[in-house]
Amino acid sequence: MSVMVIGGAGYIGAHVVRLLQQAGEEVVVVDDLSTSVAGRVGDSPLVVLDVATPEASRALEREMRERDVDAVIHFAARKQVGESVARPLWYYEQNVGGMGNVLAAMQAAGVSRMIFSSSAAVYGIPDVDLVEEDIPKNPINPYGRTKLIGEWMLEDCARAWDLRFVALRYFNVAGSGWDDLGDPAVMNLIPMVLERLARGEAPRVFGDDYPTPDGTCIRDYVHVRDLAEAHVAALEALRAGPTPHAVYNVGTGTGASVAEVIATIGEVTGLEVTPVVEARRPGDPPRLVASPARIADDLGFRSTTGLREIVATAWSAWQAGPRRVER
Ligand code: WQD
Repeated sequence: MSVMVIGGAGYIGAHVVRLLQQAGEEVVVVDDLSTSVAGRVGDSPLVVLDVATPEASRALEREMRERDVDAVIHFAARKQVGESVARPLWYYEQNVGGMGNVLAAMQAAGVSRMIFSSSAAVYGIPDVDLVEEDIPKNPINPYGRTKLIGEWMLEDCARAWDLRFVALRYFNVAGSGWDDLGDPAVMNLIPMVLERLARGEAPRVFGDDYPTPDGTCIRDYVHVRDLAEAHVAALEALRAGPTPHAVYNVGTGTGASVAEVIATIGEVTGLEVTPVVEARRPGDPPRLVASPARIADDLGFRSTTGLREIVATAWSAWQAGPRRVER
């Protein structure tokens, strides 16, 4: 019996692969290596495959049968909001098309459990302090829409055949569980600040006139290792039987502002960090913080790692990588 982790060489996927390996699971990784590196998957077999290609479904079905796969964890997707606005059809092809191929392979091979990487982007700009799973979903960009469509595909397939799934809606994932598994992309606040510091430039704050206490946007930062543990909890639950719900937020229930995150980076690194304020970035909700209650109640999962530890582990992995900050 083995677990197939699609997108398992990526930032979050590689953390899940490592936790599964440590738990003694047989793991097979599928990844196109477009934004990831093979070295991150350790000793597990790696199938290099883009799941959105026409031949992917047959190839996945074959791997699932040969390796006696009982569950799929599906990370592989494009995830840049701005890029999704510029290239919507490519996002639908990659994220929705890829999901269709994975599900078709699972149905053909008789694999009945899936954990899907969804996103807080499905909520759009919610006007609540704590986002509960059942509030209206109003994604405001193609990226968020492809994630919501992925959830709908799972719901429809679960009605039509023997499929059980858990969709995890990630809030702002950051930090690293191991120094060699840091976020290799520079697309989110903490790596973007570290990159500016590495270049000797001031970090940027995109707007300080939001209706929040310090005027900067508030997000729910969740440690990537905690998030990886949420996948392990979901896998255990799916193997034990039907879960009470199929969709769960993964966050902490505590928000931090952009100004607070940047100040924490200054404290942790000991560097002089004086940000510059720039214009608002289009489409940023002022506040996006998860209610973490449902996953705690149903699956016993809680994310407990605080912002300081998130920043400290992100910094440690950053300094172990190629773009270290010279002091
Ligand atoms: C956080 C806050 C920025 C950089 C995005 C996607 C979401 C999910 C996670 C993926 C915002 C501000 C940032 C900087 C800044 N995607 N900021 N200066 O936008 O909350 O979420 O990533 O799978 O779908 O939308 O994350 O890290 O980009 O930004 O002021 O240099 O930091 O404006 O308020 P975001 P982020």
